[in-house]
Amino acid sequence: MRRKIVAGNWKMNLNLHEGLDLARSVDRYMQKSKKTDVDVIMCTPYIHLSKASELLASPAVSIGAQDCSDKSSGAYTGEISAAMISSTGATYVIIGHSERRSYHKEDNELLNKKVKAALDARLKVIFCCGEVLEEREKNLHRDVVSKQLREGLAGISADDLDNIVIAYEPVWAIGTGVTASKDQAQEMHAYIRSVLAEKYGKESAENTAILYGGSCKPSNSVELFSMNDVDGGLIGGASLKEDDFCTIIDTFPG
Ligand code: 13P
Repeated sequence: MRRKIVAGNWKMNLNLHEGLDLARSVDRYMQKSKKTDVDVIMCTPYIHLSKASELLASPAVSIGAQDCSDKSSGAYTGEISAAMISSTGATYVIIGHSERRSYHKEDNELLNKKVKAALDARLKVIFCCGEVLEEREKNLHRDVVSKQLREGLAGISADDLDNIVIAYEPVWAIGTGVTASKDQAQEMHAYIRSVLAEKYGKESAENTAILYGGSCKPSNSVELFSMNDVDGGLIGGASLKEDDFCTIIDTFPG
């Protein structure tokens, strides 16, 4: 059975001390809560990875990065390899976030190399997909997401899929306060699962967690996470506030 996951994407927020304070608070909350049915991931800026990984005491909490290089090492000033991330104790990496796709012009071919680099370094991947508003208005959202998945996961085996979480993040919902409705989210998550089933078979698709991202907050997580194919969330703004993030985690009772 697939796991329930609440992941935070801090983006470029929080200095070292602020970030470690937040990571410590969430970890303590999870130690006390003794939940066993939900995995919590905090995807931090690179500077937090090592110390945040060291301070974890709850088995339910993991640390992840927000991107990695497609290269393994060499003269690539400013880049961070997947193996470097892994050496900090972090266990996840987000790949294909819409902000990387748009601001850094990352295309599906490059993202596919990054997915392979991450899996080679034994990191788990949170692979993001989602359409922009114009694509939805033209009824192209399914085609766009299907292409992102097919090209981004090209050459990835069913065994590798065990180490991949999908995040559906409609770009028009990110940081806008506009959330996909529960029905819009369910429809796309079920569609994503059908795309995975076509390529990897029904069982692998059923075992893959698909997270919703885009203005997810305590006031809407209950209805979004109640949908059959929504296995949790990738949370931006609300993951920066301990209370909000922990309330979202508590959407899952166990
Ligand atoms: P917000 O929750 O701030 O809309 O961000 C979502 C997101 O991009 C998570 O990766």
